[in-house]
Amino acid sequence: MIGEDFGKRLTERADFFEEVLKKFLPKEEGYPKVVLEAMNYSLLAGGKRIRPVMMLESYKLFAGEKADTQLIWPFMCAMEMIHTYSLVHDDLPAMDNDEYRRGRKTTHAVYGAGMATLAGDGLLNLAYETAVKGAIKGKELSPYDGENTNRYLAALEVLTTKAGVYGMVGGQCADICAENSTEPDEEKAKETLQYIDENKTGALIESSLMVGAILGGATADQVSLMEKVGSNVGIAFQIQDDILDIEGSEAELGKPIGSDIKNGKSTYVSLYGMENAKAKVKELSDEAINILSGFDYSNTFLQELFEYLIYRTK
Ligand code: IPE
Ligand code: IPE
Ligand code: MG
Ligand code: MG
Ligand code: MG
Repeated sequence: MIGEDFGKRLTERADFFEEVLKKFLPKEEGYPKVVLEAMNYSLLAGGKRIRPVMMLESYKLFAGEKADTQLIWPFMCAMEMIHTYSLVHDDLPAMDNDEYRRGRKTTHAVYGAGMATLAGDGLLNLAYETAVKGAIKGKELSPYDGENTNRYLAALEVLTTKAGVYGMVGGQCADICAENSTEPDEEKAKETLQYIDENKTGALIESSLMVGAILGGATADQVSLMEKVGSNVGIAFQIQDDILDIEGSEAELGKPIGSDIKNGKSTYVSLYGMENAKAKVKELSDEAINILSGFDYSNTFLQELFEYLIYRTK
């Protein structure tokens, strides 16, 4: 059940993250000034900030409401930098070729494709610099019972792997390969779509929840469950994005609708139809909420957030 003041609590958390992010922004100076401006332009364009918000809530789920949150700030910023870089590159003329993002001109529309490519590269590296520095400076944490017993290293492993070719980049690759697909085997096309959604979008949401859980002291088994929760929520999030690409409002979304049809994308709506897509978002999200409610700990905000995302309009 979504509480009445949920909107207010979500805004408070996103606003809190904006304040945290400001502490980690690069200074726009020196020879790379232009690319630094382009990086900050895309980072500060707003956005829902749901990945860092999810990371912090997952951390609190395991570390407790009163836990010191500072040690996770660099990881929250790193996640938003990775996500923002993925959007800057996704919008490039050579990829989805879109002109608007987060209610303003895309980075390449303002700074040119070359500088936008570099801004994405800069953001990805800055993400890792930020997270590694956070891990070096962070206070000692008791060990994690997974394969890599150091909590910071385990978190870094997840953060880097899920963003790369075995995660988001892999999904984006399959997304481009499936454009204007003439795959005659329907089952095969559906399997490919599952891979696309799980990776291009699921991977960063899984990562957000897993990093929060690892740093918050979850066990390896609990982290695996959070990965499953993230996978469900991430795939549902992408299906809803595909729905909104058809039924949404550009003003509210801050990005163009019709991008998927323009690019001949393979989406849940194109393969299964609108009604099935809507039902799937609900089914996947309900399952995620169910897993979450099975923990000994509870975080009602996270459950409300997953429910809220089913019906999001932006
Ligand atoms: C957009 O992500 C790209 C997808 C993975 C669907 P968001 O909808 O979270 O975008 P922002 O961060 O709010 O702009
Ligand atoms: C993008 O999916 C997922 C990313 C990894 C950036 P989309 O191409 O559907 O995202 P939007 O609709 O442009 O935000
Ligand atoms: Mg895309
Ligand atoms: Mg796109
Ligand atoms: Mg989309």
